[in-house]
Amino acid sequence: MKPDEIKNVACVGGGTVGASWAVLFAQHGLHVTIYDVSDDALGLANAELPRAYAALVDAGVMTEAAATAALDRITTTTDLAQAVRDADYVQESGPERYRIKRQIYRDLDRHTRPEVVLASSTSAMLMTEIQSATTHPERCVVAHPYNPPHIVPGVEIVPGEATSAETVALTRDFMARMGRTPVVARKECRGHIVNHMQAVLYREAMWLVGNGVATAAEIDLAFRKGPGLRLALMGPFMVGMFTSPGGLQDTMVDRKLDHSLEDDIPSRVEREAPPRTPENARQWAKISAEQMEAELAGADMEQIKTWRDLQLLKMLQLLEGD
Ligand SMILES: NC(=O)c1ccc[n+]([C@@H]2O[C@H](COP(=O)([O-])OP(=O)(O)OC[C@H]3O[C@@H](n4cnc5c(N)ncnc54)[C@H](O)[C@@H]3O)[C@@H](O)[C@H]2O)c1
Repeated sequence: MKPDEIKNVACVGGGTVGASWAVLFAQHGLHVTIYDVSDDALGLANAELPRAYAALVDAGVMTEAAATAALDRITTTTDLAQAVRDADYVQESGPERYRIKRQIYRDLDRHTRPEVVLASSTSAMLMTEIQSATTHPERCVVAHPYNPPHIVPGVEIVPGEATSAETVALTRDFMARMGRTPVVARKECRGHIVNHMQAVLYREAMWLVGNGVATAAEIDLAFRKGPGLRLALMGPFMVGMFTSPGGLQDTMVDRKLDHSLEDDIPSRVEREAPPRTPENARQWAKISAEQMEAELAGADMEQIKTWRDLQLLKMLQLLEGD
């Protein structure tokens, strides 16, 4: 199978990420079937699709006629066999649990042609642990997007131990055809590349909230107006090249700038903080979530989501204009 032979795509799981993938695939002229376990779940997807296309039309990315035609190319079903029978490519976006993913892959294995790629959106899981549930593990691979995948172009392609080189190449080329920027990981790792790093960011952010250094909203503001701006342009290593005249060598190897984080003088809050047990970490996460709930009480989250889409699209247009 070649990337341009893919005409029919199945999105298995039509939640936050699955519905957004469907928007992208149909935008690029493909026929999409969304499978989900209940009519209620499909109802949420069916509400999200027109909202997402309306934002693309508002941003001038698509005409109204093109958006209507794309929407017409998407169908939904609660019958998995029917959803994937004619699929040339499957994007799985079900719940992030090994037990569930393995069952989904077992079912996909039965109902799809053996050459069809079964790509998983998993944020952190190992394909090796999932593909062993199938009879054709070579066609199983991770294709991890960032939310919302129909706007944010980055996709990590991560093979499991049994994934074939052909599957990796086909998925990479198909993602490029969908206007995405694929990055292929050389080895499998929990959290892949970016979520392996983001896990540290969230862990420390919640520690700061839980120990009263800053509120969740203050952390968001500090991050957004500081490193967030730079990280929209450059990766962390390129940022490091500019933080001192000697570049990364100066900053990270000779430790001229970050030595203060390495010396052994903890602040009072660090000395007095409870240990990082799983219970304490959960408590810090709970406090962070409660603060954000309070911050956003009464806010229209659908409106904020559309604002997010439009701002992301403007930023992409700006960055792609370079
Ligand atoms: N939300 C994000 O920011 C994000 C980003 C990248 C990747 N992901 C990954 O994408 C996947 C889906 O995440 P999400 O945020 O869309 O979750 P979600 O909860 O919004 O959606 C999951 C969907 O799967 C459906 N589902 C439940 N059981 C199923 C089954 N047996 N078969 C098929 N579908 C089933 C649910 O009804 C739901 O609609 C996860 O693996 C997650 O790690 C999420």
